[in-house]
Amino acid sequence: MAQKLQAPRGTYDVLPDDAARRYEVERAARKILSAAGYRRIETPTFESTELFARGVGASTDIVQKEMYTFEDGGGRSVTLRPEGTAPIARAYLEHGMQKLPQPVKLWYFSSFFRYERAQAGRYRQFWQVGAEAIGSAEPAVDAESILLLAELLDALGVQGVRLRLGSLGTPETRADYRAELQQYLRTHEDRLSQEVRDRIDLNPLRAFDADHPGTREVMAGAPLLLDRLTGEDADHFAEVRALLDGADLAYEVDPTLVRGLDYYARTLFEFTSDALGAQSGVGGGGRYDGLIEQIGGPPTPGIGWGAGVERILLAGHEHPHAAPVVDLFVAHTSDAGRRAGFELALEARRAGLSAQLELAGRSLKGQLKQASRIGARSLAIVGEDGTTVSLKDLESGEQDEIELQRAIPLVLRKGKTLA
Ligand code: HAM
Repeated sequence: MAQKLQAPRGTYDVLPDDAARRYEVERAARKILSAAGYRRIETPTFESTELFARGVGASTDIVQKEMYTFEDGGGRSVTLRPEGTAPIARAYLEHGMQKLPQPVKLWYFSSFFRYERAQAGRYRQFWQVGAEAIGSAEPAVDAESILLLAELLDALGVQGVRLRLGSLGTPETRADYRAELQQYLRTHEDRLSQEVRDRIDLNPLRAFDADHPGTREVMAGAPLLLDRLTGEDADHFAEVRALLDGADLAYEVDPTLVRGLDYYARTLFEFTSDALGAQSGVGGGGRYDGLIEQIGGPPTPGIGWGAGVERILLAGHEHPHAAPVVDLFVAHTSDAGRRAGFELALEARRAGLSAQLELAGRSLKGQLKQASRIGARSLAIVGEDGTTVSLKDLESGEQDEIELQRAIPLVLRKGKTLA
């Protein structure tokens, strides 16, 4: 026998029971986001590699080691999207969305690809629900965006949610601060982990993320970017906070919050759930006012977030599975009955009923069992000559011998279960 093949490591199949729960996430997102004026967007699964190299940033883990990059048949380097913000910024630019009333609000529910160490809550192909608002630098857009993610997590029953909030200031503030932090790290270089030492030049801020004990001690005394914000940046951050306070959303200001993408400026946030293990980040985002310029457009502000669908499901409530409802199961006992039954099921569906028929050659007893297994509300056993049916209401137990063509009107009288 040939060797049995399995799905690649870090990927998984969405089986029918799982699909129902994911659909709930998508439905809740659509309801909450469209009420705030967000419209759905879908970008391609792969993009030119350069989009992520320039958009996400060369110093990030994503670009350095996590992208699925390959050359296509025409010798172009393409990459399976590791995230959704750079592709949406590209689409905004490519389709002239700057001419639309701003901000342009877009949302997505798509799969992303990162070559990461696979573990519970961390996959190599995963789904994100995300929202981006492009074209306005108003602090109200930041607050609205954060509140929408909070509302979504709440609607989906995500347990033990905490929100951390920070601000990175503008790239200019950050450049000055970076130099100051690099200086500080060099002074304490002997106590830092090798990885952090190697990144002092490239990405010193990531030192705040380190688990290494020596590095953590050093970072406890490090200068903080939040204390270096310029007047305008500080005002912007204060206004975002005031709006969140006004909306009664609890958060914690975390001056050490860094996220693994280079495009962030000003507001930055992350939602965690204590129902998740090591991979506690359930969703996060921030402002990316320089991103569109980075990929060849005019200066354009933007803000948004992405939340991991698998993590939402892991940390959300267990919905009892509503069994799919079947209005009618069509059974038969002869060839003529089988053909008439086939048509009866088709006609029932045309009438808007959910209908299934016997497709596996079961005995009559087996067919009756199948009807109850799938939770059918009515059972039609087509007679030998295919002109009559014995119609049984499986809820009340009532049974009638009737002409075939009366079956659908009678089942319809009980109402349809499909909305
Ligand atoms: P991110 O923090 O890299 O941000 O990802 C957002 C969320 O996706 C994470 O909080 C996590 O729930 C989920 N996630 C990330 N990697 C994995 C993985 N390997 N397996 C399962 N879930 C994962 C972004 O991607 C930004 N584009 C968010 C954003 C939008 N910023 C501004 N706009």
